Amino acid sequence: MDAPVIDTRPIVAAGPKAPAHGIKVRTRDVSVFYGDKQALSDVSLDMADRAVTALIGPSGCGKSTFLRCLNRMNDTIQGARVEGVIELDGEDVNARAVDPVALRARVGMVFQRPNPFPKSIFENVAYGPRIHGLTTSKSELQDVVEQALRRAGLWDEVADRLDQSGSSLSGGQQQRLVIARAIAVDPEVILMDEPCSALDPIATARIEELIDELRQQYCIVIVTHSMAQAARVSQQTAFFHMGQIVEIGRTDELFTNPKEQRTLDYITGRFG
Ligand SMILES: Nc1ncnc2c1ncn2[C@@H]1O[C@H](COP(=O)(O)OP(=O)(O)O)[C@@H](O)[C@H]1O
Ligand SMILES: [Mg+2]
Repeated sequence: MDAPVIDTRPIVAAGPKAPAHGIKVRTRDVSVFYGDKQALSDVSLDMADRAVTALIGPSGCGKSTFLRCLNRMNDTIQGARVEGVIELDGEDVNARAVDPVALRARVGMVFQRPNPFPKSIFENVAYGPRIHGLTTSKSELQDVVEQALRRAGLWDEVADRLDQSGSSLSGGQQQRLVIARAIAVDPEVILMDEPCSALDPIATARIEELIDELRQQYCIVIVTHSMAQAARVSQQTAFFHMGQIVEIGRTDELFTNPKEQRTLDYITGRFG
C-alpha cells in the first residue's frame, strides 16, 4: 500500500464555467462488495475542487455506493467491503489514522429525503459545531449558525423562528436546512445523493441555484436522476452503468458529443 498511485490517464478538466482548480477527491480502482455481490468495479475518478461533478446512470448502477465511499459511509453497512484507493487532498481516507467521524465533517452528505433532526432549526445547525467543538462561546455559535443558514439561502426565511422545529419547514426549506447543517462544520466536500428528487420544481430550482453558489467554495459531488439537472449544475459528469464508469467528461461535451455508444443510448433515453 506504500506504492504511490500512478495514474497515466488524462485528468478531465473542470468545465468552462469553472476555473481550473486542483483535484480534491481522487479515486483509483475502487471496487465495492456487499457480501459476495460486487456493486462497483474499478472506479477511477478525479473530482475537482470548486466544481460540481455529477454522477448519472440507471438505478442500481452503483452511484450511491460510490458516493458513500468518499466519506466512508459504507463502513456503517454490514457486509460492505471497499477496495482501491480514495484520496482527499492526496491522503488515503481509509488510512488507519483517519477518524471517520472527523472525515464526515470534512466530507458532508445530503440525502434524497430531507432529514432534519427532531430539534429546532437552530439546534439542527448548531449540533455539528457543538460536537466538533468548533466554537467557544454562545455568540460565536450563533454567528456560525447564522452564517451557515445564510450560505444555504435560508436565513431570511427562518431568522424569526429559529426555535421552531426543523420539521415545520417545507420540504425545500428542510433540504436547505440540511445543507446548512453540513456547511456549519466547515466541510471541504459536499456529497448530495439525489437531493431534489423529493422536491417540487420551484424548490428544486432553488437548490440548483444554491449548488451553483456553493461550488465557488466547495468540491460538490451530486448524484442525480435528472440529466437536465446534471447539465445545469455540473461541470464534469461521470456516467455509471452496471457498477462501472462508462464515460467521464466535461458535462457540456458528454451531453452533446458522448464518446461511448452506451452513454448516447442512456442520454437519449434508450434505457434507464
Ligand atoms: N446495503 C446494501 N446491501 C446489499 N446490496 C446493496 C446495498 N446497497 C446497494 N446494494 C446493491 O448495490 C448495487 C448498487 O446500488 P446503489 O449504489 O444503491 O445504486 P444507485 O445509487 O446507482 O441506484 C445494487 O445492485 C444494489 O442492490
Ligand atoms: Mg442511489
